[in-house]
Amino acid sequence: MRDVAPPSTRQRVLPRNDPRQYDDLAGEWWRPDGVFAMLHWIAEARASLVPPADRPDALLVDLGCGAGLLAPHLAGKGYRHVGVDLTRSALAQAAAHGVTAVNGDVAAVPLADGCADVVSAGEVLEHVPDWRAAVAEACRLLRPGGLLVVDTLNDTALSRLVAVHIGERLPTVPRGIHDPRLFVDDRELVAECARHGVELRVRGARPELRGLVGWLLRRARGVVATGARAPRIVPTRSTAVLYQGWGVRKG
Ligand SMILES: C[S@@+](CC[C@H](N)C(=O)[O-])C[C@H]1O[C@@H](n2cnc3c(N)ncnc32)[C@H](O)[C@@H]1O
Repeated sequence: MRDVAPPSTRQRVLPRNDPRQYDDLAGEWWRPDGVFAMLHWIAEARASLVPPADRPDALLVDLGCGAGLLAPHLAGKGYRHVGVDLTRSALAQAAAHGVTAVNGDVAAVPLADGCADVVSAGEVLEHVPDWRAAVAEACRLLRPGGLLVVDTLNDTALSRLVAVHIGERLPTVPRGIHDPRLFVDDRELVAECARHGVELRVRGARPELRGLVGWLLRRARGVVATGARAPRIVPTRSTAVLYQGWGVRKG
């Protein structure tokens, strides 16, 4: 157990979804009690959708990789992990966790067609002004038979309530990080992926409630056990807030 340090942030007041927020929050990425804690939980759930590589030199492209939180959950699966992100301060941390860092926009990725066995787009589509362009890029990067794995926030009133109006008042989500106008309708995402040859299946996801409440209480008391089990992200029938999608690119 350890005391919760005061947040190591010096956040400017910036417009919603301004990427410079990630520079101001750079010290938060890998703190188990930091404002990005929930991203770690979601990354674990995302990685569980990725099977072990089925060939040597398999490549996983992680769009909007941030500080590389997916990396520990891919350990032993046999992928080269390439991360693409706009934010250099996050990419430097991703590189320190074994990710090959590429500075770029997920809507125009500087990588070759069909290079990836797996493309992951975790918690990024809802931050991109043109999410359709990012989906087109994700599908372009996939080799035939390659796997697309995504998670994002749905474009619903409930999602705006839970993720923005409530979530951003909790210590697990940075204030102002979301622009709800960019949230992604799940049916539109499925249709867009289909247009690019990927039949996406979707399911809802949410933090397991007991784990979340326990974590929030420990956090409020100022003690988050570094070795304690993080709250799990579990499947849920409703896709109305957070949802995951996965699908294979047709050959
Ligand atoms: C909420 S974080 C998610 C990070 C990571 N996927 C995770 O789950 O830990 C969103 C990330 O997307 C990046 N991002 C936002 N818009 C982007 C864009 N157009 N191109 C590349 N990266 C972008 C941000 O810099 C940030 O690192």
